[in-house]
Amino acid sequence: MRFISRKAEVHECLDEARAENKSVGLVPTMGYLHGGHISLIERSIEENDITMATIFVNPLQFSEGEDLSSYPRDLQSDREQCEAVGVDLLFVPSLEEMYSKPVHTSVHVDNLTTSMEGRSRPTHFSGVATVVTKLFNITGPCNTYFGEKDWQQLQVVSTLARDLSFRINVVGCPTIRHSDGLALSSRNAYLTAEERLSASVLSRSLQKASELVQSGEILASVIRTLIVDEIATEPRVVLDYVEVVEGNSLGSITEIGPGARILLAAKFGKARLIDNVDPYVGIS
Ligand code: PAF
Repeated sequence: MRFISRKAEVHECLDEARAENKSVGLVPTMGYLHGGHISLIERSIEENDITMATIFVNPLQFSEGEDLSSYPRDLQSDREQCEAVGVDLLFVPSLEEMYSKPVHTSVHVDNLTTSMEGRSRPTHFSGVATVVTKLFNITGPCNTYFGEKDWQQLQVVSTLARDLSFRINVVGCPTIRHSDGLALSSRNAYLTAEERLSASVLSRSLQKASELVQSGEILASVIRTLIVDEIATEPRVVLDYVEVVEGNSLGSITEIGPGARILLAAKFGKARLIDNVDPYVGIS
């Protein structure tokens, strides 16, 4: 595995690979890698000749008062995991390498970014869209792998790649879960032992909702109430939102049909966790 910190080196390695007709896979991350990231990397390795993972904790996507300074970091373990799984290039740029100061340009994706995560974290998605645009430009034509756990982010990134005509194919990959259903997330590291036990209420409520949909319920209001009531059984959780939407446009729906998605966010102490489900599939 080659460890790279400069954009110029990325250009050099990947231009050379593409000149030899090799396909390139890109897995952008903020590090503190877990099984969810590794599944994206494995998929990229399976589908491409060269896989580049990136680690960059992007300050632009954290709002004032969020967890930028405490965001978990472990570069040594990340390097070892990337090496073990077979990453070809690991790109870990410094802040200065990514953003020359002052930054005058940002990327904003309309509509998809105003609800849910965008309502609770108003500057979050322009931060994501800006850094992802930069990573796409640094990498060049490639397949890129994003987790379905961040469903709204996946829609935002797919839309920006299409709208800005990037020669980039965005591939969504299934959420990886612990055995009790909790979705893997770097922010799970913030959970106390008690909160960790409570946190499985999120996937449990989504699974119950899915079962109700599969048994014929189509009213989004009924499904939403079931989830809110289930989550209320856990005293340690503060619910942020539960939304039933059309999965690609993210527009609210009143009746559930194929393509629907249920998304939620909740806080357990310091940890703000998100999850989502296709109710016709359920939590697997
Ligand atoms: O999903 C993440 O870890 C981040 O939002 C991403 C896509 C790496 C951009 O910083």
